[in-house]
Amino acid sequence: MALPAGAGALLAGAAAVALLSAALVLYELSPDAVLQRAFSLHKAHSIKDMENALQLVRNIIPPLTSQKHKGQDGRIGVVGGCQEYTGAPYFAAISALKVGILEASKARDIPVVIDADGLWLIARHPALIQGYRKAVLTPNHVEFGRLSEAVLRDPGNGSDRREAVRRLSRALGNVTVVQKGERDVISDGEQVLECVQEGSGRRCGGQGDLLSGALGVLVHWALRAGPEKTNGCSPLLLAAMGACSLTRQCSRQAFQKHGRSTTTTDMIAEVGPAFRSLFEA
Ligand SMILES: *[C@@H]1O[C@H](CO)[C@@H](O)[C@H](O)[C@H]1NC(C)=O
Ligand SMILES: *[C@@H]1O[C@H](CO)[C@@H](O)[C@H](O)[C@H]1NC(C)=O
Repeated sequence: MALPAGAGALLAGAAAVALLSAALVLYELSPDAVLQRAFSLHKAHSIKDMENALQLVRNIIPPLTSQKHKGQDGRIGVVGGCQEYTGAPYFAAISALKVGILEASKARDIPVVIDADGLWLIARHPALIQGYRKAVLTPNHVEFGRLSEAVLRDPGNGSDRREAVRRLSRALGNVTVVQKGERDVISDGEQVLECVQEGSGRRCGGQGDLLSGALGVLVHWALRAGPEKTNGCSPLLLAAMGACSLTRQCSRQAFQKHGRSTTTTDMIAEVGPAFRSLFEA
């Protein structure tokens, strides 16, 4: 039987309600206590999912050996623009440039990570990325809203972030989407993972660039590792979980040392130790 899109979510919603009322009857807890329990179960579930994913991320990291030479573990191209002169003319110029580089990447089957003004371009021309399964988009709250407005008939109000991210990913043909936020929500249109690694409250400019860079490396490693290493899990989803965890761990460590004066440079200095503690401990 073909269910209309969204029917699964509705059914799941109904089941959750049924479960809650059953719990009320059985334990005679106050509704507040039941809701709190439901939320902490959800959180525990997210942490378990995250830990399972991080275990797989450790699998995809290539060992360092003296046999390899420079470039053998991948090469990364970064396309950026001039920040001094923003606005429409800048966007138009950078778009032309990026469409040419995006198209070339697609033709060669090269993975792409798209952030910031690249996302502005995708919101204008979603067809550019539609169905390209080697793309990862990393929108912040505002960029996510703009993309959803552009590709979804009913963007919703974002109250259910997991569902919102899954819907955007599906609408783009299952391109991996990482919605950055208090928790990072990651989906490939099917699975949804949340990165709940502890970070810090400090938000400094450039943090997103650290994430995109780390993601570029991990996407390459994850795709190359093959399905036996990723245990059938989407390589891009794992790469995203790894990069989000690393960024948060860097933020946490840098904040412990520098507090409110933490900058992205301080975070970069933590990449090595954070990587070790997360993936090589
Ligand atoms: C957002 O939408 C959901 C589902 O339609 C609804 O339950 C919720 O009350 C809405 N929240 C706000 C703040 O409008
Ligand atoms: C995206 O993934 C969902 C869930 O696996 C699947 O039902 C859908 O057909 C996929 N869409 C595309 C365009 O591959």
